[in-house]
Amino acid sequence: MTNHVARKRLVMGNWKMNASLEANASLLNALLSSPPCAESVEVAVCVPFPYLAQVQAALFGSAIQWGAQDVSSESQGAYTGETSAQMLRDFACEWVLVGHSERRLRHAESHEAVALKAVQALNAGLTPVFCVGETDEQHEAGETEAVVLAQLQPLLDLAAASVSGVVVAYEPVWAIGTGKSATPEQAQHVHAYIRSLLKQGGAGQVRILYGGSVNGTNASQLFAMPDIDGALVGGAALNAEEFLRIAAV
Ligand code: PGA
Repeated sequence: MTNHVARKRLVMGNWKMNASLEANASLLNALLSSPPCAESVEVAVCVPFPYLAQVQAALFGSAIQWGAQDVSSESQGAYTGETSAQMLRDFACEWVLVGHSERRLRHAESHEAVALKAVQALNAGLTPVFCVGETDEQHEAGETEAVVLAQLQPLLDLAAASVSGVVVAYEPVWAIGTGKSATPEQAQHVHAYIRSLLKQGGAGQVRILYGGSVNGTNASQLFAMPDIDGALVGGAALNAEEFLRIAAV
């Protein structure tokens, strides 16, 4: 039986492509006005690349960490439009999302490419948040475990030390931005499956976040599940009060 008491809760905001200098300033101010308790929860925001300097300046020295939403699978060179892990380190990022479903689906990112991104992040000293999750169609067809296994396999093929360095986020695509969260039991079932896979790879203590319509109301029931170690939060992360409610559970 695993025990999430041994794993510090992590609540991570994903601002997606929602930001402006002005909107960020007021969101960051509001977050900093009642910062989370760093003893009991780690809190971070993953922001669009152009705002990393602004977010770094605002959050430096605070209880809130920051990161990006994607990273190149290459380390440097002729890759127009891409951003390397080392560039993210220049802005003191600790975190980077890899394989978010919006990137897998819109940019046809393969499972292998996502694992390469995770490796780039790890090599640069960032923690990749490795996102997996099935579509509505796959969910209805009972393919959740097979889909999640296929997405995780290139990660599981890495050395145990690498696998131990990631965070996994389970985000059922049908629950993202729909207001229709997975039930705590549904999510726990998949998290336990993911944990069993990680355990086989010698990384049973990797934190597994749930994502998909998490808000200040449903977070406590989700976090009560033994294998749910926190949340990846989209829409609710744009509202400081709501995001801080999730972090305060
Ligand atoms: P949501 O998004 O909280 O708006 O459902 C979660 C995510 O895509 O990370």
